[in-house]
This record gives sequence, C-alpha cells and structure tokens, in this order.
Amino acid sequence: MLANKRILLIIGGGIAAYKALDLIRELRRAGAEVTPVLTRAAEEFVTPLSVSALAAAKVYRDLFDLTDEAEMGHIELSRSADLIVVAPATADLMAKMAHGLANDLASTLLLATDTPVLIAPSMNVRMWTHPATQRNLATLQQDGIRVVGPDEGEMACGEFGPGRLAEPVAIVAAVQEAFAHGPLAGRHVIVTSGPTNEPIDPVRYIANRSSGAQGTAIAEALAQLGAEVSFVTGPATAPMPKGVNVIPVETAVQMLEAVQKALPADAAVFAAAVADWRVANSSDSKIKKDGSGAFPTLSFAENPDILATVSQMKSGRPALVVGFAAETDDVLAHASAKLARKGCDWILANDVRPETGIMGGAENAVTLITKDGAEGWPRMPKQDVATRLAQAIADNLPPVPAD
Ligand code: CTP
Repeated sequence: MLANKRILLIIGGGIAAYKALDLIRELRRAGAEVTPVLTRAAEEFVTPLSVSALAAAKVYRDLFDLTDEAEMGHIELSRSADLIVVAPATADLMAKMAHGLANDLASTLLLATDTPVLIAPSMNVRMWTHPATQRNLATLQQDGIRVVGPDEGEMACGEFGPGRLAEPVAIVAAVQEAFAHGPLAGRHVIVTSGPTNEPIDPVRYIANRSSGAQGTAIAEALAQLGAEVSFVTGPATAPMPKGVNVIPVETAVQMLEAVQKALPADAAVFAAAVADWRVANSSDSKIKKDGSGAFPTLSFAENPDILATVSQMKSGRPALVVGFAAETDDVLAHASAKLARKGCDWILANDVRPETGIMGGAENAVTLITKDGAEGWPRMPKQDVATRLAQAIADNLPPVPAD
C-alpha cells in the first residue's frame, strides 16, 4: 500500500519512543522506505543501532553542528521525503513546530520543508490537556499538519487519560490515509518522460533536447491527486518527481518494455520525447578513427511507437490515453492528424520552435485536442499545465466498475 513512499520518521524523546521500532517495522511491511531521525532526547529511550537495524537505513542523529556545511544534505532529506511522520511527537516538539523554532536537527528539518507532516502525539495527560499544548495543536492543525491519536488509557506515569501514542497500525493507517486522498486515489497512471538515448557505440549516443520537466510536473500533479504513478523516464535533466515509482530507461525499446510491464493502468500520459529512430548498425565497441579519413556511416531503424502501441491495444487498454505533439509548423493540423493516426484519446499540442523557449524551458503553451474539438490553454508554468491536465484526467476517467 505504501510502495515507493519515502517516509522521514522523526522519533521524539518520550517513553513511547520504543513503539517507534514497531512502527518502522509496520511501515516497511506496507512497502515504505523509512529514513529515521532521532532527537537527542529520543536516544535516551531507543538506541540508534536498533532503529537503524529495523529501518535498514542510516539514522540521522541530533549530534552535529548545524552550521557544518557538510550536514546541509540533511535538510535536503526532509524535502526529498513524501511524508514526514513525527512519532512520538512530544509536547516539546509540538511547541517547537507550532512556533517555527529550528534549534536542533528535528525542528530544523520540519521548518525547512513543505513536505506534508503527520504527527502522533504522546505525553503525560496533564501536558496534553494543558492549554499551551492545545493551543499548539490548534496551530499545527491550522498549518495543515495531520494528527493521529493520542489514545486514551493508562499511561507509563500511572495516570489515566488521553496521551498514549496511537498504536503503530493506527499510525500506518493514518499514513495511508495521508496518501490516499484526492480524486485519483486508487487509480494507476503511467507517465513517460524525458528524452531517450539511442547508442551509436558504448560511449556515444543520439539524444534530444527534452529536459523531462513537463513529465516530472505531470507525475507529481497526478500523485498529488492521489494516483499511484509509474514514471518511466529516459535520462532526463529535470529532478525526479516525488511520491511516484520511478522506472529509469535509456532507449525507446526499453521504454516500451517498461510501459508494457507497468500495465494495467487507468490512464497513461506519454510526455517523453522518444527518438523516432535507433542506430541499426550500433557498435559494441568504441568506433575508432582508422586514419583513412573515411567517416563512419550510421544507418537507422524505426523505433516502436509507444503511444500508438498502447492506444491500439485490443484488450487492457488504459481508459484514457494522452499524448503530446511537439510540432514546429501547422501545430494544430499535425497534432489532430497524430490523434487520429495513433488512436489516443487526447493530444496536448505544443509549438517547440526554438523561439518559443518551450523545450527545456519553464513554461508551456498547449492546446488540448480531443475527438470533440480543441481547447487552447494560455501560456503558463509547466507545473500549472500539469495541474490542469491531472484535474482534467480526474474529471474524465470513467468510474471504477463496481465488483
Ligand atoms: N511517442 C511515442 N513513441 C514514439 C514516438 C512518439 O510514444 N516512438 C509519443 C510521444 O511521447 C508523444 C507523441 O507520441 O506523446 C508524439 O510525439 P512526437 O515526437 O510529437 O511525434 P512523432 O510520433 O515522433 O511524430 P513526428 O516525428 O512525425 O512528428
């Protein structure tokens, strides 16, 4: 259920910290990758070694100088996670989060990110019911932070009431819930992205100018609407999207294979700039100058058309297949012809003449062509095109058939 989800687990220093060990086990059992962070106080309750062994990952500890530049990578950690879970979230950690303090590793990570956060509070009942903690809780909820628990029951200190850490299975359910909202929850979407590299010999290849930026943005926008995304990408320069299953490939042939392996899917978006041809006489060893002054001659073979192959599947075809049409002349006419020829449902046509700055740039101007007509979208950042496309997919996917 949590396959490919990267969770940064911040373990606070409370008596319930030992339950974080169980939580790590449950999260991993659900398929998540867990990167643990221990506060200084947490180390009084659990050892870095046991946490690291259960997570099968390095533990980040609160034992370094925050001004050390080599440690800045730690801040990057919280940005590359799909979700940050704080368990147990002590009264102290909640207070720091509510007030934006950043005076140790955990609080710095929490302040330096816009990754969604889920907290599982645990503390003495009087600390929990104290107006200061309740005020902090309200602030955190207003900030969009999700909260699971605390449970009510007998506490380690002998008192009874709310304050016990939620059970690990309940925390895992809350983690799943954090990912499973949105109109595309339960839907699988394949996205292709980036260029493909077609080898000439082991050191040389033919590529194109696609950065993969539009594909990355589309994959992230779909994941944000709750979709499970298989992101099949050629060697792109754009950053990889968060919260998706990244499947790296090099060539068009590999891309087709990876797409076929990722099927079935509810929808597929083909944003890759696939090379139309591969080198038919590519060499297994480096081509050398032989001193004769003769140039090597490359011959080409046509690559499979991935979009057309999937669009024309007789059975198991995704309900919505979306292609892009990168054109330099007669954009709409060529794109409409492509829609009909390839058999996809939608084409997003874009003008990739160098003067538009679209290929490799931050913005895109597309026209959505469907069987019913064309709709021009204003020029906007690639992220906004992605958000609009993801929403259009969510609005147009046929409902999941009832069992
Ligand atoms: N595409 C694909 N496999 C290919 C070629 C293209 O899946 N071998 C997909 C692209 O991802 C895009 C759409 O087809 O969604 C159109 O790509 P484009 O490069 O615009 O068109 P081509 O099919 O290559 O046609 P042409 O080169 O004649 O413009």
